[in-house]
Amino acid sequence: QKEGDLAARAPVVTIMGHVDHGKTSLLDHIRRTRVAAGEAGGITQHIGAYHVETGHGMITFLDTPGHAAFTQMRARGASCTDIVILVVAADDGMMPQTAEAIDHARAAGVPIIVAVNKIDKEDADPERVKSDLSQKEVISEEWGGDTQFVEVSALTGQGIDALLDAILLQAELLELKSVAEGAAQGMVIESRVDKGRGVVASLLVQNGILNQGDMVLAGEYYGRVRAMLDENGKQVDAAGPSIPVEILGLAGAPDAGEEFQVVPDERKAREVAEFRQK
Ligand code: GTP
Ligand code: NA
Ligand code: MG
Repeated sequence: QKEGDLAARAPVVTIMGHVDHGKTSLLDHIRRTRVAAGEAGGITQHIGAYHVETGHGMITFLDTPGHAAFTQMRARGASCTDIVILVVAADDGMMPQTAEAIDHARAAGVPIIVAVNKIDKEDADPERVKSDLSQKEVISEEWGGDTQFVEVSALTGQGIDALLDAILLQAELLELKSVAEGAAQGMVIESRVDKGRGVVASLLVQNGILNQGDMVLAGEYYGRVRAMLDENGKQVDAAGPSIPVEILGLAGAPDAGEEFQVVPDERKAREVAEFRQK
């Protein structure tokens, strides 16, 4: 790819951490939504993808489940991300999935920003969080390390502006770029078969532009993009780098973490898909 083809893109930020430490609530505050309140049992069970104008610049967020059962999802979340926000409840400290999230971020070579959440609580102990995480060699800047710790409350909104600033600062250092034009390529975040709509695939575009009507090859499956929706269910015609979308039209549900790409025609798509199915 020629240097001239590259353009700046929004950071992709994955929110990770132990169950109920406040990942979805934090995102709800940033997006002014109430996703957490509507979740069955109050537990996130899939990866949510959101493109947000924060007032500090565009950020794409992936929300992951903290429950022990979802290790695979956390690993995938870490693998397609630029920055991990590690949410740690200040009244609970480091827990098993906190440690696991650190390992995933390290394995993916992704910088971590720690959001010390629930700072509004009476028994909040942010110093204990620093001490806990130092055992995993995540050392705060105040303690001579290189990791930003930001104290926040998803309940009151305290510290969230500082967290967004920390994300944008980290993103600037990374100088994130992608190919802004041409055939789209990216990653399958997740997919499912919906009774009424058929296969619904959640995709993150990483390079190029994905258009309604494009022939998409994703893992072993292909199909023409019949409809494309943003995270609010609103129809979109095109999506560029760092934009997550839901598409309808694939013949089967590709595995999360698979790459997708736009191919010139159906013949090419079928050829590759049949080869992969063998
Ligand atoms: P999973 O996705 O299931 O892992 O949980 P989560 O990390 O997304 O946590 P969630 O947002 O579901 O919040 C868990 C509980 O903590 C909810 O009852 C929230 O209202 C509460 N909570 C989240 N953030 C805060 C906070 O900053 N302060 C207080 N007091 N409560 C919070
Ligand atoms: Na929860
Ligand atoms: Mg959640």
